[in-house]
Amino acid sequence: MAQNGTTDSGVAGGTHAPSFPQPVKVQEIRHTKIFINNEWHASSKGATFPTLNPATGVKICDVEEADKAEVDKAVQAARAAGRSGASWRKMDVSSRGRLLHKLADLVERDRALLATLETMDTGKPFLQSFFIDLDGSIKTLRYYAGWADKIQGRSLPVDDSFLCFTRHEPVGVCGAIIPWNFPLLMFMWKIAPALSCGNTVVIKPAEQTPLTALHVGALIKEAGFPPGVVNIVPGFGPSAGAAIASHMDIDKVAFTGSTKVGQLIKEAAAKSNLKRVTLELGGKNPCIVFADSDLQLAVAETQKGAFYNQGQCCTAASRVFVEESIYEEFVRCSVEGAKNIVTGDPLDPRTSHGPQIDQEQFDKIMELIESGKEEGARLECGGKAVGDTGLFLQPTIFSGVKDHMRIAKEEIFGPVQCIFSFKSQQEAIERANSTEYGLVAAVFTRCLDRALSVSAALETGTVWVNCYNALHAQTPFGGCKMSGVGRELGEYALAEYSEVKAVTIKLRETL
Ligand code: NAI
Ligand code: MG
Repeated sequence: MAQNGTTDSGVAGGTHAPSFPQPVKVQEIRHTKIFINNEWHASSKGATFPTLNPATGVKICDVEEADKAEVDKAVQAARAAGRSGASWRKMDVSSRGRLLHKLADLVERDRALLATLETMDTGKPFLQSFFIDLDGSIKTLRYYAGWADKIQGRSLPVDDSFLCFTRHEPVGVCGAIIPWNFPLLMFMWKIAPALSCGNTVVIKPAEQTPLTALHVGALIKEAGFPPGVVNIVPGFGPSAGAAIASHMDIDKVAFTGSTKVGQLIKEAAAKSNLKRVTLELGGKNPCIVFADSDLQLAVAETQKGAFYNQGQCCTAASRVFVEESIYEEFVRCSVEGAKNIVTGDPLDPRTSHGPQIDQEQFDKIMELIESGKEEGARLECGGKAVGDTGLFLQPTIFSGVKDHMRIAKEEIFGPVQCIFSFKSQQEAIERANSTEYGLVAAVFTRCLDRALSVSAALETGTVWVNCYNALHAQTPFGGCKMSGVGRELGEYALAEYSEVKAVTIKLRETL
């Protein structure tokens, strides 16, 4: 997800000038423990789990495993830090903003190291980590740093015998559970608005990718956040994650991940203390390419949408509907583009395509590719593993895809682009909307009227016109239907992290 509004930020393959940022040589991973109360803790049951480099299959290090006991301890720390009278609550609100800016400064200072750790842990190409994930993370922190002293209530006209106003107060202890595809960026999407609104946080990184979150733990302490304001509990979903979702003393949970687990989170929240829930889940995102579009632009953007981050994006452009008259040319150009993608060592700056995250995801993608072939879609390119080390998969394109096929309906979460053909605008809209998901969509056309009317008709939280993956900290992001609940980013996210309190004062008549 390019949260910078640009298209490629110099991350495509090819030769790069020597001035390009270089990965850092990491001798030893410094932060592998559980972060509670600004201190590092070992697992109370003595358990650790390995985190692997998906490009090599080699273990990077072992990480202390947080379970329910550590979640309880983290919640106690977060509750104490957020109590009225605690330094975090008494702090001048603009100082909260300054702390977030300070954290952004430290992330910028450690940018190359964080990008290296992110690449080692996820397999995403280093320059993408450096330019896109780090850029988005820093911008998100700075954006919400700016909001800290602008979150204000209203005074409400009733009648002259009352003064009525609202206070926007923190919700309290916010739990967060995040995935492995954008570990650092999702960490920032969760903590930045939560802290800006004055909450405290207990956050669980994904078990596949805990390293950048833990490094940021050290930066949070260095920045000067009071102990307990942010607590990081690396661990597994059914143990640490479930403990957050069902905790009786967590006031809100924000989750990004699969739709299936999203349902479990909402159920656990309902059955425990009815905590607030925001969910950012899957997608089966449609792109509609009209014959009057700039064909090369549409090919490049939909391709980027399909293959960016090895297709492991909730926003992946996995259903591309192309108007019949340009269909063949579109497929031909897309195949040509896919063959130019450079797959290889993610730490090499020439690489634009890395490995899938783990064997489970790799097998799921391969199984769906097989189903596409069996159901009669035409495999135009790719479809195979690359090499025998690491979890590399060729960028894959299917043409002649029909709406009933599994590859047309299920979230693949891998580098697989499915191209469909359509005849009329109405048909394209209906087919685009005919899914349980509703995260993002894109329209490619030179006609402004068409762009606007199709944007209005699409049942998604985001519509991109003549672009893809154009995310900004200022712009709300989230899904309709089974793609989620609530919005992240932008001013809209502040409401997800604030309680509105109405104060009504009866005035004595003095006239
Ligand atoms: P997942 O939904 O299982 O994992 C996401 C996070 O939820 C991780 O931190 C995990 O530890 C946690 N989790 C898992 N089970 C939990 C539970 N019972 N209670 C609380 N937390 C729990 O996703 P997974 O297994 O990594 O990937 C499966 C599929 O989900 C992918 O193939 C993809 O389709 C989708 N997905 C979507 C993402 C998105 O950005 N919306 C991100 C990751 C996966
Ligand atoms: Mg899972």
